Amino acid sequence: MDIKISPSVLACDLSRLSEECRAMAEAKAHMIHLDVMDGHFVPNLTFGAPVVKGLRDKTDIVFDVHLMISRPDLYIEDFVSAGADIITFHIEADCDTEAVLKKIKSASVKSGLAIKPGTEIEKAIPYIPLVDMLLIMTVEPGFGGQSFMHDMLSKVEYLRENYPKLDIQVDGGINADTAKLVASAGANVIVAGSYLFSQDDYKKAVLELYEICTNSKRHS
Ligand code: DX5
Ligand code: ZN
Repeated sequence: MDIKISPSVLACDLSRLSEECRAMAEAKAHMIHLDVMDGHFVPNLTFGAPVVKGLRDKTDIVFDVHLMISRPDLYIEDFVSAGADIITFHIEADCDTEAVLKKIKSASVKSGLAIKPGTEIEKAIPYIPLVDMLLIMTVEPGFGGQSFMHDMLSKVEYLRENYPKLDIQVDGGINADTAKLVASAGANVIVAGSYLFSQDDYKKAVLELYEICTNSKRHS
């Protein structure tokens, strides 16, 4: 599976959000990761669909929206009309997982299903035929800048062994060292917030992360 790099805007200069997204598009990031938090599903607040909509005409980059909200079912239409290209929500959210996946699909938007570190991978298996991407959280969702949880690697390995064509995303604590580990375990969609946005040269940073992952990629 091709490696794709998805910088998380949580770590960018939020007062210059559209410029930061454009800079990552120019740096050849494959998509931009937009973390939506409701202060209920996770103990932090970010932004909602109006901000995504406001960004939409500023850049053509793929919008990879990660919903960390308790009721994703109530907001799918809003994120679709805001211009999301991929909508990922959590299996732990308070909704009918299958119905929400179908709703996303019927809007011709790619669907992602995320699992928190404490959730067993087995819980996600029944939904795999309905998803375009599975997101393995490698930190507790809610904040950027946390340490990578190494014991999540076995989830990635298990998924890649059994689903060679599935997009497997990892999110949390990714840097040049942990990127090698996740790519060799089989992840191909790599979210990185603080690591990428803390660097001066985004183009160099994105390319280096891409190359690290491509060179470590599991060949199955
Ligand atoms: C955490 C978010 C992540 C976060 C990653 O809940 O889902 O996308 O921004 O940040 P880093 O890469 O700094 O761990
Ligand atoms: Zn995220």
